Amino acid sequence: MSRKNIVAGNWKMNQNLFEGKQLVTDILKNVTHLPDNTEIIIAPPFTQLELAATQLKDVTGFSLAAQNCHQEQSGAYTGEISAAMLQSVGVTYVILGHSERRQYFGEDEALLAKKTDAVLAQELKVIFCVGEPLEIRDADGQNEHVRKQIEGGLFHLDAGRFKNIVIAYEPVWAIGTGRNATAGQAQDMHAYIRSVIAEKYGQDIADNTTILYGGSCKPSNAPELFACPDVDGGLIGGASLNAGDFKGIIDAIK
Ligand code: PGA
Repeated sequence: MSRKNIVAGNWKMNQNLFEGKQLVTDILKNVTHLPDNTEIIIAPPFTQLELAATQLKDVTGFSLAAQNCHQEQSGAYTGEISAAMLQSVGVTYVILGHSERRQYFGEDEALLAKKTDAVLAQELKVIFCVGEPLEIRDADGQNEHVRKQIEGGLFHLDAGRFKNIVIAYEPVWAIGTGRNATAGQAQDMHAYIRSVIAEKYGQDIADNTTILYGGSCKPSNAPELFACPDVDGGLIGGASLNAGDFKGIIDAIK
């Protein structure tokens, strides 16, 4: 089993150009050694990508992600950014389907399937976010909810393209709330997601798919979460804006 561990920092709509430059500098100063088979991904706002790409250029183990992209490659879509543009500035991953995009921008599975195609067409990889809101968790409907998100957004892909997908399980009730999923809840869901992938693409591809946990992940809870056999790292929001906390989470990789 050779799947990669990943710790990805999703800065969301934070950091101006100068603050962001300093944060990347501080992260690189703090993180001098990476655990084996581990990739660190930084997902700053669009305005930071080109500068961050130059800062990360000769650093092994670090990659750059965008937080979203448009489903078309170019055209009259005022205010939007395409996967081709992202590819041209040195991005290698695009986060799609974050719950904030789903909630505030009405992104649904049909749109996310198109965005996934657009990203893969540029030979970029996708970090595809899934996760249930609190009322679904309270009604014990989380597995069905997450299965539908994965089927609708990704299962049109053939196996060759699916290999470029990383899944991030982010229960909505844990994002930015300080209330992380327990290790047991995370492990149960990650194992379930892997089984859903295995049903469709076979055990081998499922075993090689990186599945990240996200939602109030911090240095204090990361060791327990990352120790779960099906948790292959984290998608980190708030704690990724502090170089010391981000390093603490990276250190928790098994
Ligand atoms: P959080 O966000 O770590 O601040 O909870 C995670 C995310 O939204 O990716």
